[in-house]
Amino acid sequence: MSEPTAAERYAAAKRRAQTPVLTAFRERLRFDLDPFQIAACESLEAGRSVLVAAPTGAGKTIVAEFAIFQAMRGESEKVFYTTPMKALSNQKFGELVDEYGPEAVGLLTGDTNVNATARIVVMTTEVLRNMLYADSELLRGLACVVMDEVHFLADRFRGAVWEEVIIHLPQHVRMVSLSATVSNAEEFGDWLQTVRGDTDVVVSEDRPVPLDQHVLVRGQLIDLFEDPLAVAAGHAARVNPELVEAARRGSTRVPQRGRGDRDRRSRVPGRSYAPASRQDVEWQRLARPQVIRLLEERNLLPAIVFVFSRAGCEQAVTQAVRDGVRLTSAAERQEIRELVEERARTLPDEDLGVLGYFEWLGALERGVAAHHAGLLPTFKEVVEELFQRKLVKVVYATETLALGINMPARTVVLESLEKFNGEARVPVTPGEYTQLTGRAGRRGIDVEGHSVVQWLPGMDPAAVAALASRRTYPLNSSFRPTYNMAANLIDQFGRARTREILESSFAQFQADRAVVDLARRVRSQEESLDGYAKAMECERGDFREYSRMRRELGELERKKLSPDARRTERERRQARLESLRTRLRRHPCHGCPDREAHARWAERYWQLRKSTDQLVRQIESRTGAVARVFDRVTDVLLDLHYAEPVDAPVPERAEGETRGPDEIRLTPAGRRLRRIYGDRDLLVAECLRLGLWEGLDAPALAVVGACLVYEPRREGGSEAGMRLPGGRALAEAIERTTDRWAELDDLEQSHGLPGSAPPSLGLAHAMHRWARGGSLDAVLDEVDLQPGDFVRWARQTVDLLDQIKDVADGHVARTARQAVDAIRRGVVENIV
Ligand SMILES: Nc1ncnc2c1ncn2[C@@H]1O[C@H](COP(=O)(O)OP(=O)(O)OP(=O)(O)O)[C@@H](O)[C@H]1O
Ligand SMILES: [Mg+2]
Repeated sequence: MSEPTAAERYAAAKRRAQTPVLTAFRERLRFDLDPFQIAACESLEAGRSVLVAAPTGAGKTIVAEFAIFQAMRGESEKVFYTTPMKALSNQKFGELVDEYGPEAVGLLTGDTNVNATARIVVMTTEVLRNMLYADSELLRGLACVVMDEVHFLADRFRGAVWEEVIIHLPQHVRMVSLSATVSNAEEFGDWLQTVRGDTDVVVSEDRPVPLDQHVLVRGQLIDLFEDPLAVAAGHAARVNPELVEAARRGSTRVPQRGRGDRDRRSRVPGRSYAPASRQDVEWQRLARPQVIRLLEERNLLPAIVFVFSRAGCEQAVTQAVRDGVRLTSAAERQEIRELVEERARTLPDEDLGVLGYFEWLGALERGVAAHHAGLLPTFKEVVEELFQRKLVKVVYATETLALGINMPARTVVLESLEKFNGEARVPVTPGEYTQLTGRAGRRGIDVEGHSVVQWLPGMDPAAVAALASRRTYPLNSSFRPTYNMAANLIDQFGRARTREILESSFAQFQADRAVVDLARRVRSQEESLDGYAKAMECERGDFREYSRMRRELGELERKKLSPDARRTERERRQARLESLRTRLRRHPCHGCPDREAHARWAERYWQLRKSTDQLVRQIESRTGAVARVFDRVTDVLLDLHYAEPVDAPVPERAEGETRGPDEIRLTPAGRRLRRIYGDRDLLVAECLRLGLWEGLDAPALAVVGACLVYEPRREGGSEAGMRLPGGRALAEAIERTTDRWAELDDLEQSHGLPGSAPPSLGLAHAMHRWARGGSLDAVLDEVDLQPGDFVRWARQTVDLLDQIKDVADGHVARTARQAVDAIRRGVVENIV
């Protein structure tokens, strides 16, 4: 780089003078900031909010760190840092404590409540949402909120929470929103600008470490692109001819049966080579331990290998161990053992066997591990830590690892370009490919990151290349009003204002954008329609009328009656046909010499008319779509007396608040619903109101809770007639709960709402055992789950029972508290 000119030095000095806080911040850093980081920090220093969209590992956290630094220079300003995952919150909390000391930092994740009144508090997004609805004291003095991984807003199940927070944060609070690269960052930024004001959008597309992409064909590692440098720089590039050749050669080994036309037609699209038999696949693919050796030889470790199935991850580790893979030195093994023993200290000894602790440790000592949602959270965290410390060198992971946690590798391997999504095998999307390979290349350590796709016969090199060069996907809202949300909003703002508030959701913003687009298309199509109408004008009469009859006649003639149609029906059709034919013949346009020319224009006219009418219908359905769902939700609440019409003016309302004639207010039951969150909000509220869970003991209530949170991974066999644990009381409680669910489901359907899945008994026996003090071993005998799954469901049950203990009265509240204590023990409690 050349020396800066005098003018450049002057400009830099001027900038520094304008941003003294940023200058002070930069002096403390080990590295210099990237342009996108500087731009975002400058926005913050100017008192604005900022949305940063940049690739995985680009360094978005720095922007959040600057916001915290800035707030801490004030007297008493508070900052909240929200993340979508407890593990990520824990990691962030640790880092911030190192920086600002334990007094200054708090952590709230549902499980953990540390130092809630601190000036910096790390929390899961749900915790902040609940605080906002409860108008918590903790919000006083809040100056800034960081939303890390804000693209979670698109999450089908939890995404709405992000929108609720963004909509409801007090206006003076500034926001730092950090997102993976999305193709519509500008649109998202425009919405933030609309609801929050003063928001700058900073987008960076540059990967911090360039990615070198390869395909592993048998034992050969071949570059995917002819000119990898061009691709890294964002230019289009040709697929490597060597790869095309190798792929072709691979396919010629396939027995060439039936290469006729029929065979060619039946080929899967995107596959340009005939599929191979299973033996061929085995023959052509390297075994997993061989892949590790190859990566080791080429100096491509540490690596994350995405396998896409939990069983596959476990199998891979077993294979590596059996094959004698060892990637660690004696000193490293020692370090691993010490760290694991320290972290696992609090795990109950009697559970170690069923957790597979000893095999797990054995593999870790070899530098190999699995990472997936079935693992005990403690195990997962240890694997992450060991990998970050370069002690574990190969991790076999499902895609859950692709999100958030800072766990970069030198190389990312994709064993397949298809994954199982719970129902079917689906191709990996370009967005997912970007996300997965985003883990390759560690800043400051690797000059470049590497991705390796394992070649399978039938794969098309061009399709792989297309996946690899397209970069981003759009961020779409998944917002939908829930009962709890409606109750909270109605209570705070009344129905009319709530409708307005919901109109400001990103969901509606996107729908409106789409409407603007659709409306533009309608306008332009209307112009064409006018043109066609002119072209078919006929001096003899109304050609539009004539052509409409012709169309109708044509349709009627084409429509076949089923052989068993009734006689009257046939006769009616015949009469209609004849009448149309007669009227056509008599029509003044029928004798026109230009009739067929006019008819061609008319045909175009009607085609376009049809498509335009469809667009108009789409516009109608999108306008006010979110508010319409809210209205349906509100109707259900009115039907069930969670809300009631307001006849007399309500006293004690905020000044200047106006309430329309159709205004409603919450009943006591509705106010209770305000504090019940989750998919089953209304059902839980109903069961409490009807007293369906009175008289249960703690293990039984734990089972009820588990039935409400548990969702089986796949459709199981029928649960009807399944014997329940515990006594008569539990069986009755479950039966009445399920009955109530069915009634609610009917009511929802009658209001045009989608309804919900029935409570599931799948976890009942396991939870009963656990809540009565059974060992993990015994519990896992009851149910086909991995320890990590059980722990996750148990923790969700605890979350629900926690709410119940706060909102229920007397006996049920006490029992819920006992149930929480009974569940939260051993591996369920264990937090590193
Ligand atoms: N300007 C920089 N120069 C060198 N290293 C940097 C710079 N900025 C950040 N880093 C380092 O890069 C690493 C990744 O940063 P960070 O975790 O902030 O990424 P991210 O953008 O949040 O990614 P993700 O999408 O995974 O959350 C960190 O170790 C950080 O210290
Ligand atoms: Mg991050």
